[in-house]
Amino acid sequence: MSTLKAVRGTRDLLPPETDLWNRVEATARAVFARYGFGEIRTPIFEATELFARGVGEETDIVSKEMYTWEDRARAASEKAQSLTLRPENTAGVVRAYIEHKLGDTGNLQKLFYIGPQFRRERPQRGRYRQFWQIGVEVLGPVSSGAESPIRDAEVLEMLASLLDELGIRNWQLQLNSVGSSTDRPRYIAALREALAPVKHLMCEDNQRRAETNPLRVLDSKDPNDQELINNLPKIADFLDEASTAHFAQVREALDACGVPYTVNPRLVRGLDYYTRTTFEFTVPDGQGLGTQNALLGGGRYDGLSEMLGGPRAPGIGFAIGEDRLILTLQAQSAETTTTKLDAYIAPLGIPQNAAALALARELRRAGLSVEVGDGSFRVKKSFEAADKVARHIVLLGEDEVSTGILTVKTFATGEQVKVDKSTLASHLRT
Ligand code: HAM
Repeated sequence: MSTLKAVRGTRDLLPPETDLWNRVEATARAVFARYGFGEIRTPIFEATELFARGVGEETDIVSKEMYTWEDRARAASEKAQSLTLRPENTAGVVRAYIEHKLGDTGNLQKLFYIGPQFRRERPQRGRYRQFWQIGVEVLGPVSSGAESPIRDAEVLEMLASLLDELGIRNWQLQLNSVGSSTDRPRYIAALREALAPVKHLMCEDNQRRAETNPLRVLDSKDPNDQELINNLPKIADFLDEASTAHFAQVREALDACGVPYTVNPRLVRGLDYYTRTTFEFTVPDGQGLGTQNALLGGGRYDGLSEMLGGPRAPGIGFAIGEDRLILTLQAQSAETTTTKLDAYIAPLGIPQNAAALALARELRRAGLSVEVGDGSFRVKKSFEAADKVARHIVLLGEDEVSTGILTVKTFATGEQVKVDKSTLASHLRT
């Protein structure tokens, strides 16, 4: 019989690596709390239409990467419907915002989420079919200040602080403005016009994009097309006065906070809902990610709620690719993630097994991390097993059980001492 394996593009996360995942998530939660964010948990699958309308039919995500199925009706009262595993979480959060009328509170909603997303992409390092995102969405009615450039700058400043606190080095913030929903069509028309005489010189993919979605030409990595692309019109020249002023205020606030950034006029991002500010944080090549160098991406989506049939609710957010964040942390630091337990208790014979477990229970209740061996082990084997997982070994023979005086060895120093059971917990803590 052939053995079963995790499906292509998915993977198991195992200890001790999961310790690092938990540390990252705990740090993110702590930082988000300092900025007044609350957690939202939306379903992992949604109506397909949500992504078609929100993310956009023409995007790569919707046109080729979604896990979609026809969900049959199970009762006469139900209708069959097309469902999709979420490829991203912004559309789901905005759907929830509309469904629960969160705008009626009049307050700015500051929400975060941590969870798996699904895209049928070609798997490679840093690119999986199930991957994790740590994301944030800030949205609300215009009267709540949701449209203010302060919100954009605050979200970016928070990201810079979070990456610093996690220990990510050499991150770069790439920043752009893609303008309002009226600026963009004018820019796309100009792009089409500029591409018409040169597109036949470009790679096949770009020739197709020039027809279907000219903005996508801008994030092409094809080396031969770069010069042609650099000579195309820039979105900055098509922003109206309000978008230009908004972008200037975002940059001014970032400058005031000392958050460094590079304006990248080619950063248009692959989802249709973006308006005005767009951004990505990248790390240089060779620091864990290879060609998938975007640690995270985000931007403003002032029209998304209305695209989904909701009230006007401008917003801005981002999603960190947690898998990529972890790869970067691992590549940037030599430190291993294994943390040792406080103690390993070694019963010296089978009759001491029960007492060993009782002692472990006492120590664990006192907050210590403890592993228990087995009385059938030879002493040498107990020492070897203990040295791998714990800082101390506690030997428990017949005498120790009857006197309550235990033999404890500390591996780091090689020191071996007798310790009274009543002071054992404090001895092991040091
Ligand atoms: P996105 O750029 O599609 O944006 O994804 C955000 C991040 O998720 C990427 O920068 C990358 O780190 C990670 N990511 C995407 N696809 C994969 C994959 N196949 N494997 C591993 N990591 C991946 C969004 O999803 C938007 N919802 C972000 C946002 C929130 N915009 C506004 N609010």
